[in-house]
Amino acid sequence: MLNSAPASLTIGPMEKLVVRGGPDFRLTGRVRVSGAKNAVLPAISACLLTAEEVRLDNVPLVKDVHTMLTLIEGLGGTCRLEGNTLTVRVADIRSDEASYELVRAMRASILVLGPLLARFGRAVVALPGGCAIGSRPVDLHIAGLQKLGASISLEHGNIQARAGRLRGGVIEFDKKTVTGTENLLMAAALAKGETVLKNCAREPEVTDLAALLNKMGARIEWVDEDTARVRGVKALGGAAHDIIPDRIETGTFLVAGALTAGDILLDEVVPAHAAAVIEKLRASGTSVEPEGERGLRVVGGPDVKPQDITTSPYPGFPTDMQAQFMVLLTQAPGTSILTETIFDRRFSHVNELVRLGAAIEVQGDKAVVKGKTPLSGAEVVATDLRASASLVLAGLIAAGETVISEIEHLDRGYERIENKLRGLGASIERITA
Ligand code: UD1
Repeated sequence: MLNSAPASLTIGPMEKLVVRGGPDFRLTGRVRVSGAKNAVLPAISACLLTAEEVRLDNVPLVKDVHTMLTLIEGLGGTCRLEGNTLTVRVADIRSDEASYELVRAMRASILVLGPLLARFGRAVVALPGGCAIGSRPVDLHIAGLQKLGASISLEHGNIQARAGRLRGGVIEFDKKTVTGTENLLMAAALAKGETVLKNCAREPEVTDLAALLNKMGARIEWVDEDTARVRGVKALGGAAHDIIPDRIETGTFLVAGALTAGDILLDEVVPAHAAAVIEKLRASGTSVEPEGERGLRVVGGPDVKPQDITTSPYPGFPTDMQAQFMVLLTQAPGTSILTETIFDRRFSHVNELVRLGAAIEVQGDKAVVKGKTPLSGAEVVATDLRASASLVLAGLIAAGETVISEIEHLDRGYERIENKLRGLGASIERITA
């Protein structure tokens, strides 16, 4: 049982980060990148598909993992987290419900819908409400599961889903959806017959989930870049799996190196997963070179060149790196335009960056950044996960003290980022307000 959360997962509600930075501050040294939050969450959900034990290694100790384990234990599973190794066993369930409280804390709770339905024939998952980065509907998850034979209704704010054994079918997603693809892969794995999923999201985390499912006995093959063929099996078994490195944490440290004209060696990364970010960094005047197979060295140049960037599904530039890259572009002399195509209202960091001295104007789905502007420390509020990372980065080069509140957003997806940054020479501390 996960009786109590490890210290690194216990996060007080009133904590703040204080960063003391300045324009001449440089980050130097070596940092190890953790396992991917967005890979481990579906991997934990996949444990619902089997009565046998699943072992996951390289698990990042972030708040969302803790939330997911609370959810699995609430359903009746047994979880043990020792260091970065997690074992999960769901012999049976005593509940089929993901409450609004949990779904509100972490939207990825929706990932239990497909597995619960496929193995137990029933699931109740609270409908995620609006959140800080746009409305984020789940209609494609629902329509896909209906195509596999589920009967789904919305009652009292919950998705109520029922099914006998799911049946294979052909599903073409109207839009690429990461967790939608993951839910359908998991559901189809136990369906009767063959399912073809078209227009799938192919983020590395989706590929990693399919690899885990295949180790558990699923029969998933990628027919082409975004089409999966899933031959359903009656039952899945236990497996052991290493979670892939977090490409967004990788990108965040790469930008940190570029921003501070630093020199950082990142360990335990998959460089190919960060290709779009590396390409933009190089174009902006930063050197990013592989060091061995799982290392990357970033050396920031003295000048940053403006860039136009449009977010898009993988392998395009990730929306989860938009806020962090925006900070770098505040230091580029000239105009840069960031176009956000994945989520509406994903510019909540702009107002906070402006408080630090940035010149950024939002025009619809575009943020127009005028550089180069010196930044100066101030009190700012973290509004969502990646927005908070951008504020930490800005604090590194802002003169004086930057105090970031509501950092529970940051802790959802970064494993004690302040410790890693301190290891690179930053002056950053967590205080209890
Ligand atoms: C996942 C990631 C998140 C990342 C996002 C986009 C996890 C746990 N989270 O979120 O970090 O920012 O991918 O890369 O992996 N959409 C619909 N209907 C649906 C589902 C999605 O219209 O049923 C839309 C969304 O509103 C959005 C787009 O599709 O505009 C992509 O969203 P999606 O890929 O589903 O994001 P998440 O899986 O929630």
